Formats: sequence, C-alpha cells, structure tokens
Amino acid sequence: MSAALSVDGLEKAFGGVRAVDGVTFDVASGELVALIGPNGAGKSTCFNLINGQLAPDAGRVTLGGEDVTGRPARALARLGVGRTFQVAATFASMTVRENVALALASHAGAATSLLAAGLARFDAAADALLDRVGARELAGRHGATLAYGDVKRVEIALALANAPRLLLMDEPTAGMAPRERGTLMQVAADLARRDAIAVLFTEHDMDVVFGHADRVIVLDRGRIIAQGSPDAIRADPRVREAYLGTDSAG
Ligand SMILES: Nc1ncnc2c1ncn2[C@@H]1O[C@H](COP(=O)(O)OP(=O)(O)O)[C@@H](O)[C@H]1O
Ligand SMILES: [Mg+2]
Repeated sequence: MSAALSVDGLEKAFGGVRAVDGVTFDVASGELVALIGPNGAGKSTCFNLINGQLAPDAGRVTLGGEDVTGRPARALARLGVGRTFQVAATFASMTVRENVALALASHAGAATSLLAAGLARFDAAADALLDRVGARELAGRHGATLAYGDVKRVEIALALANAPRLLLMDEPTAGMAPRERGTLMQVAADLARRDAIAVLFTEHDMDVVFGHADRVIVLDRGRIIAQGSPDAIRADPRVREAYLGTDSAG
C-alpha cells in the first residue's frame, strides 16, 4: 500500500536561501510524525510545499500514490489535506458549533451554508466532531470567549470537518501552557490512530515530541540530518549537536 504522504527530493529556495534542500520522507496512515529542527531549518516551508501554499522548485509530493505536486491548496484540501490554521475573523462572532457546522457545510458543498437555517442541518455532526476532540462542552460558546487552549482544540475539529487523510499541524501548541500541550497532542494522536489519519506536526516542546510522535524527522538548514524513533533521535549525537544541545527554539 502506498504511504498517505510521500515527499521526494523536495526543493525550495528563496533568493539565495535553500529553505528546503532535497527532502525525502513518507508518512503512513495512522502515523504521527514530528518534523523538528532549529529556527529557520525549513519546517514551515516543507509544510507549505505539502499543503499547496507554495510550489516546489523540484521534487514530488504524492498523496496515497497520486502525484499532486504543484496543485493549489484548495485542490489539495479536496483531496484530503487538512491543516490547522490561524483562526478566521468570522470565528469570534459565531458559536463554536456554528463554526464547525460551517466547515462541515463547506466540505459538503452546501451552497446555502451561510444561512443559519441551512447550517442547523449540520449541528448534530458538529457536536459529534466536537466530542471527538474533547470540546463538546464548548459548542454553545462564542469564539471570542474561548481560552487559547480551547481555540486550539476547536481548530483541530475544524480541520477534521474536511475529513482529512493527512493532517498538517505547524506548531499546534505554540503559546500553550505545557500541560495543555500534552493534552492537545494526545487528542491528535488518538484521532490519528483511530481514524487512520496521517499526521505531520512541528513542535518545539521536546517532551511533547518524544511523548507523542511515532517517528521524528530532524531538519537542519533545509536537509534531513536524522530520522527515526523518538528514542533513537534523542540519542543521536548529530541531533544533539544541531538542535537539542542548543536552546534555540524557533
Ligand atoms: N517567504 C519567504 N521569503 C523569503 N525567505 C523565506 C520565506 N519563507 C521562509 N524563508 C526562509 O527560509 C528558511 C526556512 O524558513 P522556515 O521554513 O520558516 O523555517 P522554520 O519553520 O523551520 O523555522 C529561513 O531562512 C527563512 O528565512
Ligand atoms: Mg516555522
């Protein structure tokens, strides 16, 4: 069976900076892979090449065996690439349930999705999704009233509304308290395994990385310098030198 995601020889330069310089890896369905590396290593650029925000200079992106290199983000979303994102401006004035219902309606292609009457059809499904991320109790709250950690859980629910095969999370726990980070990643890990979603995430908190990733890929200056199990990566001298030995968190 083909991997949920394969990237092969991915390259992207900005002017003279080789942000991503020949990156090759796979993520299997149901697998949680952490992409780590110092500030400027190329993690976000990798994500943007995979989700269609950027087109690569060279290399291939394959989803479930289908070459999707260079397709725009919208097309990739339809093919099952989900991502967590900065909360949209409309979010604050709507309830959490309405936000998730809107995402579900949009996925279903419902044309009248902006009308409350049309949205209500998706309420039960929205509540079920919120249940899955442990945020059912937030359903009636307005976005503006949510604590930061709650927003992050709702973002995962919004990404799941698109029924992704691959979920990309660039620093999903940034700004969260340490205890909340573990909880959020546990939610993502449980979902990935239960629904066989491939998850690729970046994360600065090494406790979260080593506690939740099935596999860790280490980038440094656009290149993969190591990949393996959390235990193998923790013990790898190149990784310690390039990354763990420093306190740069970028
Ligand atoms: N849009 C851009 N224009 C110019 N340079 C960029 C752009 N995006 C990223 N870079 C550069 O590419 C390198 C990798 O950045 P990035 O992928 O954001 O790293 P990370 O997410 O690992 O911190 C850095 O040197 C960064 O300055
Ligand atoms: Mg980044």
